[in-house]
Amino acid sequence: MATSRAQWSGRVGFILAAAGSAIGLGNLWKFPYITLENHGGAFVLVYLVAIAVVGAPIMAAEIILGRKSRQSPVGAFRLLAIGRPGGRAWTGVGYLGVLAGFVILSYYSVVAGWTIRYIVIAVSGTLGELAHHPEALQSYFVSFLNDPAAQVFHHSLFMAATIGVVYFGVGKGIERAAKILMPLLFTILVILAIYSVSTPGFGQAIAFLFRPNFSELTAGGVLEALGHSFFTLSLGMGAMLTYGSYMRRQDSIPFASFTICFLDTLIAIMACIIMFSVIFSFDFEVSKSSTILFTTIPVIFFKLPAGALVSALFYLLVAFAALTSTISLLEVVSSYAIDELGWGRHRASLTMGAAIWVFGVLSALSFGGVDVLSRFNLIGRDSTAGVFGTFDYLASNWFLPVGGFFIALFTGWILTSKASRDELEEGHASLSWSFTMWRFLIRFAAPAAVGVIIVSVILGAEYQ
Ligand code: TRP
Repeated sequence: MATSRAQWSGRVGFILAAAGSAIGLGNLWKFPYITLENHGGAFVLVYLVAIAVVGAPIMAAEIILGRKSRQSPVGAFRLLAIGRPGGRAWTGVGYLGVLAGFVILSYYSVVAGWTIRYIVIAVSGTLGELAHHPEALQSYFVSFLNDPAAQVFHHSLFMAATIGVVYFGVGKGIERAAKILMPLLFTILVILAIYSVSTPGFGQAIAFLFRPNFSELTAGGVLEALGHSFFTLSLGMGAMLTYGSYMRRQDSIPFASFTICFLDTLIAIMACIIMFSVIFSFDFEVSKSSTILFTTIPVIFFKLPAGALVSALFYLLVAFAALTSTISLLEVVSSYAIDELGWGRHRASLTMGAAIWVFGVLSALSFGGVDVLSRFNLIGRDSTAGVFGTFDYLASNWFLPVGGFFIALFTGWILTSKASRDELEEGHASLSWSFTMWRFLIRFAAPAAVGVIIVSVILGAEYQ
């Protein structure tokens, strides 16, 4: 095992970087709208259970595999499977992870790019003018989506920022960015949360989120909650595994896993409280779709005092959160090239970043900018239309659940009980019943729950 591998400077550095990966568009863009679509309460409860029963144990599993092997996903599975059932075949899980990182980053960067445009127009005053006429904002957004040059431009900016961080490596790039951006993100979020308490819709937002009504829960909703718990925690493709490979031996994996899951969940809930408070403050017809972050939220912000400032802060928050996530996606792909192909970090981040950028251009042009790309539909459903829709569908419904399933099986059944126990206890006090519980979850509960997602996707249940 290489001894020269980079490490985080300490516990805080690792937790901030990993929480930065987890907290992203999944929390601020996707979770609020799927919660609205699924009627709040009961859906939120299922989501919380999914995080505790499936997400948290797999989080610990990925970090164990990374820290134990000190490798990125492909090398980790190769090394840890030596002499074990399945042998080299397990490297397939690593390759799937690298592919998933490539695909997810390509389209994620496009949405992340939109936030840059919104920061600019919030500051310049354009957003304020548009927000007073909801239809005007709606058509502004649609023409922005249809504008090929604007889409490619903002995607390029975001990829450049991502490459710029990963280029400088684990300590000087990723950890430093997380240490600057995460505290800023928490600060902005707290300011917005305090602001939301003062809005008239606050009480209704809390009731919507925390008063479950199980008659409104559908099977599709349960599956969506489960699937989303992977995406939001950055699980199933080796991102946490890769970050875990830079973790110091004297830091605790159980503590880190718990903290990352807690912060990610806290921020998803806070994002909902902020957005729903303002939505419920007005009798506003919410378009229940993936675009509420860009079409509904500004309208409402500008009905309240200091709309320009609040919305500029808000989009800055989303951009920061997205950047600490895109960094982790590029790091998985780059560290593959570094560990497996023997490339230097500069070459790996620039080459892989450029390749992903090219792929992302296809997604960027698939919102109407280029007809063939918008009409491209491999899966054939409405929700999977366009290159963007297809990639998002493949990643969240196939790559992540399948990857997570095998990560759980590998850690629960191939890695010995002693090996995982030693790794979990290293840097932590000795574990007793909590180890037994984790091992039960990773061997039985997590694979069973993920198995249900996979089977339902095969049977074609609509949960996207
Ligand atoms: N978790 C991030 C979010 O919620 C997205 C993300 C970053 C991700 N890295 C990942 C998702 C790895 C899956 C796998 O926005």
